[in-house]
Amino acid sequence: MNKLFYGDNLSVMRRMPAESVDLIYLDPPFNSNRSYNLLYKNTTGLPIPEQIEAFCDTWELDYEKSAIAHDIPGIMQKYGIQNDVVQFWYYLVTALKSTNPRLLAYLVYMTIRLIEMHRILKPAGSLYLHCDPTASHYLKIVMDSVFGQNQIRNEIIWHYKRYTAKSGQFQKLHDVLFWYSKTNDYTFNDMREDYGAKSGINDSHYKQDENGKWFRWQKRKGADPYKVYLSEGRRMGDVWEIPFINASSKERLGYPTQKPLALLERIIKASSKENDVVFDPFCGCGTTVEAAIKNHRQWIGCDIAIHSIKLIQDTRIKKYGFVENVEYTIEGIPQSIEQARYLFEQDPFQFQYWAVEKTGGFCSNKKTADKGIDGRIYFETGNVLSSMVLSVKGGNIKPGDIRELRGVLEREKGTEMAGFICLKKPTKAMEQEADAAGFYEYHGVKYPRIQILTIEDIFNGKNWCCPSVVKTVRKERGETFLAL
Ligand SMILES: C[S@@+](CC[C@H](N)C(=O)[O-])C[C@H]1O[C@@H](n2cnc3c(N)ncnc32)[C@H](O)[C@@H]1O
Repeated sequence: MNKLFYGDNLSVMRRMPAESVDLIYLDPPFNSNRSYNLLYKNTTGLPIPEQIEAFCDTWELDYEKSAIAHDIPGIMQKYGIQNDVVQFWYYLVTALKSTNPRLLAYLVYMTIRLIEMHRILKPAGSLYLHCDPTASHYLKIVMDSVFGQNQIRNEIIWHYKRYTAKSGQFQKLHDVLFWYSKTNDYTFNDMREDYGAKSGINDSHYKQDENGKWFRWQKRKGADPYKVYLSEGRRMGDVWEIPFINASSKERLGYPTQKPLALLERIIKASSKENDVVFDPFCGCGTTVEAAIKNHRQWIGCDIAIHSIKLIQDTRIKKYGFVENVEYTIEGIPQSIEQARYLFEQDPFQFQYWAVEKTGGFCSNKKTADKGIDGRIYFETGNVLSSMVLSVKGGNIKPGDIRELRGVLEREKGTEMAGFICLKKPTKAMEQEADAAGFYEYHGVKYPRIQILTIEDIFNGKNWCCPSVVKTVRKERGETFLAL
């Protein structure tokens, strides 16, 4: 059962059976102004534009999200959500469209995913939605709509200490997590914490029993008092003090939004049993995966970024000696031409992302993809970053595709070369088109300006012929940065 999915969680969840997971924790990207996916420190000091823009799409009310926004009340109705809630959404969508389209885009993105999460959750299952204040109040409305407003079990405050530079307001020292259960018959293991330093044996209410154990009497209305032992600790509250991952944290993997293992362990211990299935649809560097392994749960992680999947494999999973295809599997990363073809048929966008990343490139956001650019390879020339634009075609190909790519190459500033990736074998005419683009010369070396790679070439170890490429390298301490 243990699985890592590389891909968009929406398409992954749509393929998952109903009522198949016991616990879901999600920590989605929130704020488009922060570079959530800025995973690399660049040795050149020059930013990689795709890294900054990766999540801006989430907040853009593009044509697709506009259409879904329009359909949201209908989608909810079809899912069985009450009519008055559906009506409310009809008005909310209409209002947000003109007042805050970016927030609407985000809520649309989250709503369609939360409906899937509700579907795949078992009746005794729980979902923990990790928010920051940017949209938490709106997300609560989405959760109330999808799960029902009586299904909230707690609003948990994760309180941490850190120094924030922004002045003129109180320091932001907490995150909010909403815990919802699917039904009222849900898994919950009583969680205890030590009494604070002030209580305990110095408290005159405590006495020792015949075995020397400290206890106090607890009164009950209409019944005899009962003994409460100090060693049992007290029932845990909904404000959790757990240290933030900072630069000196031992568990730090260099992933900017990494959450502490202690936070995930607490959630897993409280809301699941041994061997239950824990699912994290935005698994990042795999904190949930490690917490599940450590606590003997089965796990499913999903992330849209291939470096996240690799990082989890190389660190979290490796640490526990799990063997791929024995103790866990990875899905969505083709290992053969047949699997690549299958990925293309199932999910053409994911195929594009995979192909670009497989050759060391960075995927484009939607806007540049629309201009015929699916990704870029970066290389340093003098003090600037130059690039090679990439175009990926999984279906039929023709010489016109290469002519178009040449047009892109001529149009895009700072672009010296272009690469064409295809599943099918290119024709002679396509190769001639590519050759006609000539060479790019750097430091006396000539590089073909347009190059073609088939997926078969890539599996055979072939790659782009260009000046030293800017690519990802991870240092031993888990720091991720770009090296030349
Ligand atoms: C805030 S981070 C999660 C961090 C994680 N909790 C941890 O401790 O490492 C959000 C993650 O969601 C991933 N992501 C964004 N959109 C996604 C999508 N549609 N499907 C799957 N993963 C996605 C990003 O690549 C990123 O790794």
